[in-house]
Amino acid sequence: MHWTILGAGAIGCLWAAQLQRAGVPVSLVLRSPARFAQYQAKGGITLIDGTGETFCPMPATLAAAQTPIRQLLLCTKAYDSLAALESVWHRLSTDSRILVLQNGLGTQQQIAARAGKARVLIGSTTDGAYLRAPFEVVHAGHGETAIGQLGCAAARLPDLGPGFGLQLRQDPNIEATLWRKLAINCAINPLTAVHDCRNGELATVPAYTQALGILCTEFEAVARARGIVLFDRPLQEQALQVARNTGDNYSSMLQDIRHKRPTEIEQITGFLCHQADLLGIDVPHHRALLEQVRQLETATFRSRQHES
Ligand code: PAF
Repeated sequence: MHWTILGAGAIGCLWAAQLQRAGVPVSLVLRSPARFAQYQAKGGITLIDGTGETFCPMPATLAAAQTPIRQLLLCTKAYDSLAALESVWHRLSTDSRILVLQNGLGTQQQIAARAGKARVLIGSTTDGAYLRAPFEVVHAGHGETAIGQLGCAAARLPDLGPGFGLQLRQDPNIEATLWRKLAINCAINPLTAVHDCRNGELATVPAYTQALGILCTEFEAVARARGIVLFDRPLQEQALQVARNTGDNYSSMLQDIRHKRPTEIEQITGFLCHQADLLGIDVPHHRALLEQVRQLETATFRSRQHES
């Protein structure tokens, strides 16, 4: 069955290209006429991976088109996902299925509330990908995508065809998986953004390692109070391992700051601070980072306005 991809960032392009390569009918939705024209000039996505470069041609439509959508992969930035969903709402029917693949927490629940839990699958991925240029995606690290349904342990994996080249896992507790990814993102992303450093430096610069340790302890208090089981070792050890494993990378949040784009801080640290408030738990170090990243965003936004 046809897949429609909304959100042509790195993960959206990776999934679209893998579907096309597996012989599954797929198309993109682009929301602005300028992006649509930019895509039409290329006519496809270039996938760069261990097998070399593959050009994967596929059609695209503007969000305002009328073509019905049966299976939607929603993989915009988290802060944009509700607006993105609304832009194609008129093309969905009660039979349409939606797979949401994004960072952070909070918006998945909002999308499930808007569309109805039963038609929404939620994913969490450890695949590493980045855009070399618009619609040209590098699959930099092979991971796994866990997929499940909020409040339902038995949801089936969506039909992606037998030749689909990404690793999938049916997840009976996707909420806990999202919390584990949130824990890693809360420990690594804002720190790298404010210190303008590679992930690996969090494990080699003592002051950064110490700050990461405090963030992990605060996070664990919230997770414990929510009844969420994180990892089979302390969060600090797990987060430092991820920082080492991705040592040369710049986190997605730092990349957003450097490119003067909005970050997902509200859906990552903002979500955690909100949960902490509800539980009456103090998370002063996360709260301080939330403010610092907000200020960085404001400063980069001002400098972008100044440039244009
Ligand atoms: O957001 C990111 O950049 C990644 O999820 C992670 C794990 C922090 C590694 O770069």
